[in-house]
Amino acid sequence: MERVPTGIPGLDDLIQGGFLQGSSVLVAGGSGCGKTIFSMQYIYKGAELYNDPGIYITIEEGVQNIWWNMTSFNWDIVKYQQQNLIKIYRMNLVNPETFAKDFDAEIGRIKDMVKEINAKRLVIDSTTSFAIFMSSQSDIRFNLFKLVDEMKKLGVTTVMTAETFGGRDEFSRFGVEDFVTDGVIGLYFKPPMRALLVKKMRGTANDPRPHPMVITSGGIQVDPNEQILWDALK
Ligand SMILES: Nc1ncnc2c1ncn2[C@@H]1O[C@H](COP(=O)(O)OP(=O)(O)OP(=O)(O)O)[C@@H](O)[C@H]1O
Ligand SMILES: [Mg+2]
Repeated sequence: MERVPTGIPGLDDLIQGGFLQGSSVLVAGGSGCGKTIFSMQYIYKGAELYNDPGIYITIEEGVQNIWWNMTSFNWDIVKYQQQNLIKIYRMNLVNPETFAKDFDAEIGRIKDMVKEINAKRLVIDSTTSFAIFMSSQSDIRFNLFKLVDEMKKLGVTTVMTAETFGGRDEFSRFGVEDFVTDGVIGLYFKPPMRALLVKKMRGTANDPRPHPMVITSGGIQVDPNEQILWDALK
């Protein structure tokens, strides 16, 4: 089966070379643990190193914010936008009353964009910010599943983020997000230490240990050879 390299140095070593093509992976963690940077890097390095067209869907943060964030790593995003290798789109979900209808329309729009640039990579940052519009756990699970399923039909490899309160055992906010996706990656920030754990990766013999992670001016890096003790993440 084809693997999609993540663009995060060190991570592919933990997951047999990358995400399974067409799969969906949840990146979960507390505020400031690196979910947005991880997602941007997946899209940016996808374009830069692998020539993969990618779409970055932001829900809460403005397109401008994502843009500033990327340029702070000296990533020349404009170049890839001009080449139609990167697209940044802000999902238009603001009204709880019309959410169901709007959500379907937005899924349609994402599908069109994927086809338009023949996207191989997709990011949805974050699931937490649109799940707040839904009224029950089963509603959240149903809608997330619908989204994941539609993306799977398109063959795109999707990274979604979920905000947690930062605990080592937390991989979702609503208790359902991590069941809907094929993979789950936990990011941790216990100042000054950062860590990454592959919690699940369907179809993959993944490394089961937490590993040290750093954020530098070049982006996120994971050390596949060093491990962090589970107790250190308490
Ligand atoms: N250029 C950089 N070099 C080193 N560290 C950086 C750099 N830019 C950002 N950071 C670190 O990354 C953190 C933000 O990461 P990111 O925005 O990806 O977090 P997040 O998990 O998406 O948070 P939230 O849940 O609030 O959206 C910052 O708080 C900062 O510590
Ligand atoms: Mg973020």
